[in-house]
Amino acid sequence: MPRPAMPDTLHLIQLSDLHLLEDAAQGVDWCDACRGLDTDATLQAVLDEMQLSEPRIDALVVTGDIAQTPTPATYRRFREWLAGEGVPVYCLPGNHDDPALLCAAEGGPVRAPASCTLGDWRLIFLDSTCGTDRPHGELGKAGLAQLAAELHAAPERPTLVLLHHPPVPVGSPWLDAIGLRDGAALLALLRDHRQVRAVLCGHVHQALDCTVDGVRVLAAPSTCLQFEPGAAEPRYATLPPAYGGLTLHADGGIDTGIRWVGAPADAPALAARGS
Ligand SMILES: [Fe+2]
Repeated sequence: MPRPAMPDTLHLIQLSDLHLLEDAAQGVDWCDACRGLDTDATLQAVLDEMQLSEPRIDALVVTGDIAQTPTPATYRRFREWLAGEGVPVYCLPGNHDDPALLCAAEGGPVRAPASCTLGDWRLIFLDSTCGTDRPHGELGKAGLAQLAAELHAAPERPTLVLLHHPPVPVGSPWLDAIGLRDGAALLALLRDHRQVRAVLCGHVHQALDCTVDGVRVLAAPSTCLQFEPGAAEPRYATLPPAYGGLTLHADGGIDTGIRWVGAPADAPALAARGS
């Protein structure tokens, strides 16, 4: 049966840094304050909030650190869970993920493509990972060349570039030390391709919306645990799980917002307009 045509305005939800375990009951032990954190429960809370708050969702994008324990069983569990949301799900790996296992787990609406076209928009997905024992990111010459080819293929189409590691410092020395090492090269490339309306990231477990050299960079908080913005060393913020919302307009404009689990129902989900 043919798929229904994509509408002019697209509503995307960004999930990031899920950190799912193979056995959810085990819990994540990152710090004393969050010992035994159930990342299944926080993701479910985010999905419940999303279903309650969003009148329409055209696709989910997942910007890495899907797994805390990157095994085939974790990714299989993720795929079966997210497939139940009933919309396309586009994924890319983070530093905690195994990119090959993530790709091997693709199926049904859950995919990890290099790019896709959604309505008037093009989405390009980059793998910025360097192995699970190395938390920083790097695209390398091959990754940048692949991106350049994708950008040349559709120069007129408004485009989002998605990767796990933000290409700019976020003001936390410990996070900036494990950022994208060739972020400046990425920004230099994007500056020459004005169809790119924003770069969408995760990794920093906090909301980010800045424009550097004309390139807008957005990051969504984690579906589990947030980092304290501006902290010199790892510190966890007393903020709930969250997701990012994006409305993509046919003219290339973007409305963005962050929805925190348990926020008042009348809190605006989409607050900032960019073009
Ligand atoms: Fe993460």
